[in-house]
Amino acid sequence: MSVGVDCSAVKSEFPTLEDRDIVFLDNAASTLKPRQVIDAMANFTRNKYSNVHRGIYRLSMEASKAYEDSHEIVAGFIGASWSELAFTKNTTDAIQLAALTLLWNKIIDSGAEIVVTEAEHHSNLLPWVRVAKLAGASLRFIPVDREGIPRWDMLESIISDKTRVVAVGHVSNVTGYVSPVRDIARIAHEHEAIVVVDSAQGVPHIPVNVKELDVDMLAFSGHKMLGPSGIGGLYIRQDLAESLEPPLGAGGTVSRVRMYDGAISIEWLSPPWKFESGTPPIIEAVGLSEAVKLLNRIGMDNVMFHEIELTRYMLKRLSEVSNTTVLGPTMSPPRQGIVAFTVDGTDPDWIGLILDKHKIAVRTGLHCAHILHDKLNASKGSVRASVYLYNCKEDIDKMINALNNVILKLKNN
Ligand code: ALA
Repeated sequence: MSVGVDCSAVKSEFPTLEDRDIVFLDNAASTLKPRQVIDAMANFTRNKYSNVHRGIYRLSMEASKAYEDSHEIVAGFIGASWSELAFTKNTTDAIQLAALTLLWNKIIDSGAEIVVTEAEHHSNLLPWVRVAKLAGASLRFIPVDREGIPRWDMLESIISDKTRVVAVGHVSNVTGYVSPVRDIARIAHEHEAIVVVDSAQGVPHIPVNVKELDVDMLAFSGHKMLGPSGIGGLYIRQDLAESLEPPLGAGGTVSRVRMYDGAISIEWLSPPWKFESGTPPIIEAVGLSEAVKLLNRIGMDNVMFHEIELTRYMLKRLSEVSNTTVLGPTMSPPRQGIVAFTVDGTDPDWIGLILDKHKIAVRTGLHCAHILHDKLNASKGSVRASVYLYNCKEDIDKMINALNNVILKLKNN
């Protein structure tokens, strides 16, 4: 057992782990679902489901109430108020919404600069590349050092009064490195830049309070934090959320549309609704709020320390395996539970397939972070093991044993 999390007891709440008898170490891609989430979604679907904010009949009012409660619970989890949290499909969708909103409102305009790092997941890179192109703006990159850590010491020299956005990955999905978001936000705000955080690997694993971090927008996914796929969130600071026009106008975003002499006038709903176009992820919101209740019950400090302990253990055990190289810093913290590594002379996919034969699930490839892999001389990709609250040290041991077997066979061939 590890600090504050009884991983063996937690495991029993996840039917997939019991039914499939696997070691699941692909949590950075997506997490498994506990019974509490599965049951809440099934019960809601069976007994309470209807569309929300569209009907005055009882079933719709009950569904609307459940959907609004989910906003409150999930927003509270990141220290925001319910009106500051728009539900999206996932992190990618949330960052697209952030980028399009800033483009639509001409905050990103011709000559503007957007600061990103070379370590970003494509979800926090490609939306900025594309809006910059449309607006005639440009990207400025914070380079990474040889361990893949962004050179934050260079931020002051890269940021300028033309900078409109600093888009920062909270926790790297390759190295597990945790960015000093609060310090970055302070410098960005001195230049009146908007701070957008990709917290896909942050919110599920470490305590996050958007007010303490003092960020303007923050994106995350439900499926990486025990919730269902199909829902994520974008936090937008209250005053920004009120003043910005949404880029996607549709059903659910407006209080009134009128036509005067052939011209259309739109009155937007107040946030967060004006940012949620079309029928939202209703059942998924119920599932996500159950996931948050479970994480709150265990405590995010406990989740974080449990992962740090597992990560230290994994780094130590990997250092004993010959021919492997870990990407990123090998000392922790600041490093969460993601460890990507290469094995000399092998294709990462091949290692992944062999580990699968040992019932160990890891991700292999470039993990949507091609630039970072190139910078770390791992252009063919890496094997990535990522932990969560239901992983125990035994899981790491099983992976290391399987790896040792593979490497022994390689040597004998
Ligand atoms: N963004 C997820 C990952 O890194 C899918 O695997």
